[in-house]
Amino acid sequence: MTAHPAPAHVRHFLDLAPLPAGELRALVDAAHRRKADRGPWFRGQADADAPLKGAVLAMIFQKASTRTRVSFDIAMRQVGGSSIVMSAADMQLGRGETIEDTAKVLSRMVDCVMIRANRHEDVVNFAGAASVPVINGLTDLSHPCQIVADIMTIEERIGEVAGKRIAWIGDGNNVCASFLQAAAKLDYSMAIATPKDYAPRTQEIEAARKAGAKIDVCATAMQAAQGADVVVTDTWVSMGDVDKDARMAAFPAYCVTDKVMAEAKPAAVFLHCLPAHRGEEVSEAVMDGAQSAVWDEAENRIHAQKAVLLWSLGYL
Ligand code: CP
Ligand code: NVA
Repeated sequence: MTAHPAPAHVRHFLDLAPLPAGELRALVDAAHRRKADRGPWFRGQADADAPLKGAVLAMIFQKASTRTRVSFDIAMRQVGGSSIVMSAADMQLGRGETIEDTAKVLSRMVDCVMIRANRHEDVVNFAGAASVPVINGLTDLSHPCQIVADIMTIEERIGEVAGKRIAWIGDGNNVCASFLQAAAKLDYSMAIATPKDYAPRTQEIEAARKAGAKIDVCATAMQAAQGADVVVTDTWVSMGDVDKDARMAAFPAYCVTDKVMAEAKPAAVFLHCLPAHRGEEVSEAVMDGAQSAVWDEAENRIHAQKAVLLWSLGYL
């Protein structure tokens, strides 16, 4: 068996904000390349170079997941490694063992940890105590892995994301925050329409603008969609949101319908990180229509995770 050296750098993938633009670009390029290089093989067959042969990823979930857990597991198999999936509730973490102690123990047992947490600060604290790379698999504040897959999907459909206009319609949530963090790095602009009480955090918008991105805050979904290359939405009620009734009352004008898509460019792409709620944030016609790239987007989570894993372990 090939012995891989311990990585020279422990690189945590917690947010896109601190990632240099060139490294984010390299991540997306690696994801494209690895997807193109695979043959019509079974999904669990390793890539020819199996760059992370023998590596083990531990995944901790404090919240539900379908795509993130399966795509990371398959990604690990394709780069030559394996994974262990754990629900936080079934771990000693669920009985009060601290985040920091858990991080120290897992750092002695596995090569990388992905954590989906209720509170962003728990992921930051976990990474602070870990001596192996830690990947943010979604928190209340951000979802950086999702954006690598989303950019990849956009580029497959309409070419390089630089210069494109991305309309975010609905809740200014964790996924929106990660789109904002990548805007200046990948040189796209955003038009955002949300109910006023559910806007993205001001600091995210200001940081994106300060970094050089054009971010327009629009009054309506139709305005945000005008001339857009990409229209993106997400659930109105994210995991952990406790104000469902208020949200359901606030959001109906932010459903992505055919009428909204008609404001965008004719070749515009519709994205949704999923899970979707047809008839709420997106109409059935848009979700299942020709402009929707949501199934490619879900598949691309695998290719994107491979790039994130390689970067985190110092192989990219
Ligand atoms: N998009 C996404 O992260 O999906 P899961 O919640 O199913 O992992
Ligand atoms: N914003 C959603 C994304 C789910 C993948 C949530 O946090 O629940």
